[in-house]
Amino acid sequence: MLSGVSALVTRCVGCITTASLVSLLCVTKTQSAVSATPTCHRPGLPEVIWRGLTTQTTSTSPMDKLHDAKEACLWGLLIGDALSMPVHWYYDADDIKRDYGKWLTGYVAPKKHHPSSIMSLSATGGSGRSGFSMQKEEPLIGNVILHDKLQYWTKSAGASVHYHQGMSAGDNTLNALCALRVCQTMARVDPDGDLSPRDLRSAVLADYVTFLTTPGSHNDTYAESFHRAFFRDWIPAGKPVGKDELMKFAEKRYKEQSSGRADSQLAVIGAFVMAVPFVLHSAHLPEAEAVRNTVDFVRLTHPLPPSQLEPYVELYVKSLHAVLNGASLQEKAAEALQSPLLGGSGTWKRVQAFSSEAAGYAKGSDMRLSVYQEAVGHFGLACYIRGSLTSLFFLAHEFHDDMEGGVLTNTNVGGENCHRGAALGALLAAAAGRSGQPLPQGLKDGLGSARNDLMALLANSKL
Ligand SMILES: *[C@@H]1O[C@H](CO)[C@@H](O)[C@H](O)[C@H]1NC(C)=O
Repeated sequence: MLSGVSALVTRCVGCITTASLVSLLCVTKTQSAVSATPTCHRPGLPEVIWRGLTTQTTSTSPMDKLHDAKEACLWGLLIGDALSMPVHWYYDADDIKRDYGKWLTGYVAPKKHHPSSIMSLSATGGSGRSGFSMQKEEPLIGNVILHDKLQYWTKSAGASVHYHQGMSAGDNTLNALCALRVCQTMARVDPDGDLSPRDLRSAVLADYVTFLTTPGSHNDTYAESFHRAFFRDWIPAGKPVGKDELMKFAEKRYKEQSSGRADSQLAVIGAFVMAVPFVLHSAHLPEAEAVRNTVDFVRLTHPLPPSQLEPYVELYVKSLHAVLNGASLQEKAAEALQSPLLGGSGTWKRVQAFSSEAAGYAKGSDMRLSVYQEAVGHFGLACYIRGSLTSLFFLAHEFHDDMEGGVLTNTNVGGENCHRGAALGALLAAAAGRSGQPLPQGLKDGLGSARNDLMALLANSKL
């Protein structure tokens, strides 16, 4: 198991990179994390009345259809994430079969060990990464966030601790849980949709800080870079918790860091998960407002130069907004794949080649899956936004009318499948919901700890 340690340091493990992990584990005076060099070079979800989750009613009005699409979208986000949780960051897809005996066809609990985890510092010990300081600094992990999880990030845990160890089948990872919290906050503070966008953002941000800093609020062991970077900066800012102070902090941070050097660990698909609720909340508004509201929130957690992430967020928000409002997912995905942002005609040709190759094999066959694995390997298996979003739209195009097939394939291709799966599941389920196709009941029933919260949210409020 340890023989691969040195290889892991240089080998691509996506956004789970040695430098980012080590440098962000502690708060350093010099904020060395900003200069951490990523080691990844892999190419790359005015009817207020709940109609009942099991009652089959025929929705006819456009508002009914939008409502159905939004509910489905949120289910899809949680489903796409939870299915992938046990095999999150499995970069060698064959490890999925090796660890679980078969390709995944539903929810399973994660193994204790992960074939390529570098969460524990022991896997990086002695690698001499610059930027890692042995000085006594206020620890972030275990102290400010992820309170009882420090043991899994340290040497004594040994190598290869699973990023989501201890979770149960159907449980959601941190970003998806955060997205659900965003929806809950929106329902609480803005039930009629008339709060100013900035006030809405500030309430969401305050709840985010409370959620992440409250011991026992979730059971995940891992938090991706943007959380760690946020709280790394939040501590020296005096740990603001009030809405106004937090907004001042986050807006100032955006201003400073968006004009500085990009932290490439933030320009990733994980940014899309907490963004989805903003698209849902703005779905009845013009597209440009949905984009604006979403981007303005993403800036608070992902302070990057605008070109690094925002065009991708915009492309995704426009697609999801259109699908929620009745556009064809197949067409929207094709448009996205042909956009210059994702490579234009070159990308589209590869998409068509992979698509016709896949069509030569039976649906659900291992051979077909292997084509999809190859395709996602080609477009981008890791978190980095351009490749990850291309893979997402490829799968959305391929599985535009098959939500379950799409999210399971996303799981079984491996890589950064949780966050890609959340954003993909949201799109696929929105399309299904909009066209009146029910989501597979088993996928809804099998969700873990988030299921009851989602049911309560949908029973008591509109999204
Ligand atoms: C965490 O896991 C424990 C044990 O499975 C469970 O009882 C608890 O409700 C979970 N907490 C959350 C916030 O999901």
